[in-house]
Amino acid sequence: MKNIDSIAHVTGKSLYVDDIPVRTGTLYGVVFPSPVAHGMISSLDVSGAVDMDGVAAVFTAEDIPGENQIGGIIPDEVLFADGKVEFNGQPMALVVARDELTARKAVAAIKADIEALEPVTDAREACEKGMLLVPPSTFQTGDVESAWDQCAHIFEGRTESGGQEHLYIEMQGSYAYLMENGHVKIRSSTQGPTHVQKAAANILGVPMHKVEVDVTRLGGGFGGKEDQATAYACMAALATTKLEKPVKIILHRMDDMRMTGKRHPYSADYVIGLSKDLKILAYKATFYQNGGAAADLSPAILDRSLFHSTNTYFIPNTQVTAYSCKTHLPPNTAFRGFGGPQGMFIIESAIAKAASELQVPARKIQRKNFLQEGDHFQYGQVAKNVNIGNCYQRADDEYQVERIAREVDQFNEANHWKKKGMALMPICFGISFTNKSMNQARALVHVYQDGSVGISTGAIEMGQGVNTKILQVAAQTLSISPDKVKVETTNTTRVSNTSPTAASSGADLNGKATEMACKQLAKRLRKTAATLLNEKLGNISLQDEWVFVNGVKSTLRWAELVKKAHLERVCLTEQGHYATPMVDFDKKTSKGHPFAYHVYGLAVIVTEVDCLRGNYHFDKVLMVHDFGNSMNPDIDMGQVEGALIQGIGWMTMEEVVYDKEGKLLSNSLSTYKIPDIYSVPKVVKCVPLPTKGPRAAILRSKAVGEPPLMYGIGAYFALQDAIKAFNPGYNADFDAPMTKEKLLMRLYNNQ
Ligand code: MTE
Ligand code: HPA
Ligand code: MOS
Repeated sequence: MKNIDSIAHVTGKSLYVDDIPVRTGTLYGVVFPSPVAHGMISSLDVSGAVDMDGVAAVFTAEDIPGENQIGGIIPDEVLFADGKVEFNGQPMALVVARDELTARKAVAAIKADIEALEPVTDAREACEKGMLLVPPSTFQTGDVESAWDQCAHIFEGRTESGGQEHLYIEMQGSYAYLMENGHVKIRSSTQGPTHVQKAAANILGVPMHKVEVDVTRLGGGFGGKEDQATAYACMAALATTKLEKPVKIILHRMDDMRMTGKRHPYSADYVIGLSKDLKILAYKATFYQNGGAAADLSPAILDRSLFHSTNTYFIPNTQVTAYSCKTHLPPNTAFRGFGGPQGMFIIESAIAKAASELQVPARKIQRKNFLQEGDHFQYGQVAKNVNIGNCYQRADDEYQVERIAREVDQFNEANHWKKKGMALMPICFGISFTNKSMNQARALVHVYQDGSVGISTGAIEMGQGVNTKILQVAAQTLSISPDKVKVETTNTTRVSNTSPTAASSGADLNGKATEMACKQLAKRLRKTAATLLNEKLGNISLQDEWVFVNGVKSTLRWAELVKKAHLERVCLTEQGHYATPMVDFDKKTSKGHPFAYHVYGLAVIVTEVDCLRGNYHFDKVLMVHDFGNSMNPDIDMGQVEGALIQGIGWMTMEEVVYDKEGKLLSNSLSTYKIPDIYSVPKVVKCVPLPTKGPRAAILRSKAVGEPPLMYGIGAYFALQDAIKAFNPGYNADFDAPMTKEKLLMRLYNNQ
C-alpha cells in the first residue's frame, strides 16, 4: 500500500501549521533571543518595541501567570530568561504584532543589558568544573579490572562525535487561539502533544483540560520536536490568552538553527582488551555528553548511549560511565537514534583502533564478537532471536563480502591517486522507551453508520508513514477496504496522556492500541451478525466487507451489518489501550529487560577517495536489514534509505560549529552542509532478512524509524580504510565528522 499522504504531498495539498487558514485578527509572534551565551540580565527594556505601531504586546518572564518552567524530565528550563541567560539564542521575550515584519522590526528595538559571564562550551571542561545536568550513570557487567590480565592486547584512545542539526523542512511553529471560556486550542508542530499540553497548562496556571493540542502532521521531526516544539507552543498559548486574539509563531530557518538544540556531541575515552584470538574480553569507557544549558531529554539520551555502548557485540566485562555535562549552548535534544549512534561510534572506534594496531581488518574482530543467542546484554536482558550472524551470512551470500574486499585491494594496487576503502557496520537497536511508563498508547475507533471508520491515536505523522500503518492495521483487523478508513489528526481531547511519537515505537504502540480496539469492534459486530443470521458466534467471520458463515459468504455486507447494529443500539465506538508487556528496568542496579525486542542489521560500505583533492563519494552501501514481517515494504525501505543518508551526513559532512563564545557559526544552509542527491551513495541496496518478526511488533513488522541511521557510522570507517591505503603512516583517529578538509589533512599527515 502506498503512503496515504503521497499524492497530497507532491501536489502541495498536505497541511502543515503554516498552511492552516488564519482566523480574523491573527497576530504574529517573533522571539527576542539572548545575544550572548552566558550572563546576568541587568535590564531588559522592551519599551521601544511596545511603542511601535502595529505591536500588540511584548511578553517576558514577568507576564507568565503560571510557572515559568517547561523542563521535560527535570524542571530546569525556563520559557523566558529570568535574571540570567544561559545560551546564545535563549528566548528572553516575545513580540506580538499585526504581522511578522512588524514583529521583527520591534524585536530589533528591544534593548537588553547583560553582564556577560564566561561561557563553557566544552563538555570535558564542564565536567571538570562540576557542571553536570544529572549525576553520572554507569553500566557494568563482569569485572573489567580483573579482566585486563587475561588480555593479550589492550588499546586505548579518545573519540569525538559532533552535533547534528535536525533540519526538518518545516520549522518549529504553532498557532494558538481561544475557544470558549478561556479554553486554548494549540495547533503545534510537535512530536509530543501531551508534553505541549502539560507545559502550556503549567505556563498558564490552568488545569490540563483547558488546553487542547491538535496536530495534523509534521514536515519532519527526527527527534527535534519531541521536546523542543513545546516552547513555541507555550508562547503562542500565553499570547493568545493574554490578548484574546489568535497568535501564530513560525521560526525562520536561521532562528530555528540558532535557538534549538541538536544531536549531542560526545567526547569519550575508551580502553579495549582482546584475547590472542581477537575476542573482546573487556571494554571500559567514559562518555562526556555535551548537554547544553538545560536537561531537556539529555538524561534519557545518556542512558540510551549506555544501552548501546557495546552495539551488537558480546563483551563479558564492561564498565561504561557517562556524564551529562551542562554547557552554555542551546539544550541538545533527541535526534534519530537518541544517543545510540554516539555510543555505537565509540565501540566501533575502539574496534577500528585495535584492528589498525593489530593490522587485521576490523571486520574480523567484529565478526568474532557478534552477539549469540542467549548472551546477555550488559544491562542484564538476555538476547533472544539474535540474528546478527544471519545478517552477516545473508550479506555474504548476496554481496560476497570478501570478494568486495579483494576488489578494493585490487583497485588500490592499480591506482595511486584514487583509493577505495570499505567497512562493515553491524547494528543492534533496542525497541521501547527506556522509561517504562512511556510504553503505552491509546486509540479511539469510531465506526460510522455507513460503515466508514475514523481512527484517532496518539501517533504523530512526521513523514515516517505511521498513519498509513495505522490505517493498514484497522483495515486488516476489520477486514474492510483501506478507503473506508480515515486516520484523524492527533488531538489531546480525543486521545489523552500520549507518549511522544519517538523511540521508533510510534507504529508499534499506537498500532497495537488500534488493533485491540478494532478487534473488540469486530467481535461486537460478529455478535450482531450472529443474531441477525440466527447463527452461532463461532461460525461468523468478517472478510473483505462481507459476513461469512462457516467460511461461506452470506448475504450480509459490512455496511448493512453496521447500519443494523446501530439500529440495534450496539456501540460502534471502541477505545484500545496498549501497554508493552515485559519491559522493565531498575535504574538503581542498571539491570532489567528494557526492550520489547531488538532490531538487527548489517551494512557493507565502499567509498572512493580522490587523494589529490580530498574529495570522496560512496560507491555502494549494501545492507541486510531485519524488518521482521514488514507490513509496508515501500515505507520501510524509505525509512532505511533516509536514515542511512542522515547517518552518513552526520559522520561525514554535517559540522555544527560554535565559536568560543557559544555563538553558532554554522547557522544557515550556506555554512551547514547536509547530504543532497549528489552525495548519496551511487548504489544503495537493502535486502530484508527473512524472519517472522516478534509478537511485540505490530503485525510482526519491526520498528524501523531509527535503527538504519546507524549504518551511516560505517561511512567514517570506510573513509579511514581508504586513507590508510594511501597513507600507511596514518594513525587512525576518531573525530567525526570526517569532512573533506579533515580527510585531506589525514591523507598527508603521519602523526
Ligand atoms: N522519517 C521521516 N520521514 N521524518 C521524521 O521526522 N523521524 C524519525 C523516524 N523516521 C522521522 C522519520 C524518528 S527520530 C523516529 S523516533 C521515528 O521515525 C518515529 O516514528 P515511528 O515511531 O512511527 O517509527
Ligand atoms: N527514545 C526516544 N525518546 C525518548 C526515550 C527513548 O528511549 N525516552 C524518552 N524519550
Ligand atoms: Mo526519535 S529521536 O526517538 O524522535
